Amino acid sequence: MAEVHRPELFDFHGVSLTQYFTENWENVQNFQARPDDILIATYPKAGTTWVSNILDLLYFGQREKPIPIYERVPFMDVFHPEIGAGTDWADKLPTSPRLIKTHLPVQLVPKSFWNKNAGYDIVYVARNAKDNVVSFFHFDRMNMDQPEPGDWSSYLERFKQGKVLYGSWYDHVSNWWKKKQTYSNLHYMFFEDMVEDTGQEIDKLCSFLGLTPSVEEKTRIVGEVHFDKMKNDKMANYSTISVFDFKISPFMRKGKVGDWKNHFTVAQNEEFDEDYKTKMKDPTLQFRTEI
Ligand code: A3P
Repeated sequence: MAEVHRPELFDFHGVSLTQYFTENWENVQNFQARPDDILIATYPKAGTTWVSNILDLLYFGQREKPIPIYERVPFMDVFHPEIGAGTDWADKLPTSPRLIKTHLPVQLVPKSFWNKNAGYDIVYVARNAKDNVVSFFHFDRMNMDQPEPGDWSSYLERFKQGKVLYGSWYDHVSNWWKKKQTYSNLHYMFFEDMVEDTGQEIDKLCSFLGLTPSVEEKTRIVGEVHFDKMKNDKMANYSTISVFDFKISPFMRKGKVGDWKNHFTVAQNEEFDEDYKTKMKDPTLQFRTEI
């Protein structure tokens, strides 16, 4: 097996990133949004692929020719020698609207998306911190382009300190939440609500976007984006990406709320809760760690 060189994390504009997210920085910052673009923003592992697939099906239905999700919804921030720049992938998208994925914290989103007159639609998905960190840990184990995760307890500490890719979860979800108060074209969703009632979350998404799918269409989409269906769908499950080692952990791992209970010790959970209280001060932003 080829030797694996995992990238290092470093501080970049106050956020922990690796070279794959800084090398195309100028082009990301100067990215020209189009008026009908839809930006899908998340902290990593919050349900990006799930909501991307839902939006793709809502707008474009079943594709005649199968296309992997990472081509249908390009990842704007990334640059990789093997795949090129996410900004180029987005520029080449023939669709209208373009669905574009980002993990950037709100303050680093390209300026062109904030033109109020154009009214760019942004869909943000957030997931409770405990399940988010568990999912991220397993992702970092299997993705050879991510920094070495180390063991679970050291990973958990680094997550609390914001020393994982894209920095602090606490700042990410809180600052996007704050943005919602002043930017009305931002739809803020929760992974837990999607697990509890996918159909209802699709309804809310449709009313935000002004879409009116038929009842049959909606039922079909709910079926298409079920965890088991997406786990077995080569166009949605990332099994075609060579740097992902599915023998370590699959991309579609569990898709549950509450899997953190299988990872956190009682002491880790207590410490996490204490630390959480000091970081999450806004009482209007509440997450569910079980449903
Ligand atoms: P787990 O690792 O907890 O299973 P992202 O797309 O942002 O990288 O998020 C990946 C997480 O979303 C993974 O969580 C994955 O299993 C979950 N996920 C993806 N599609 C899903 C679906 N259709 N239903 C439930 N969870 C899904």
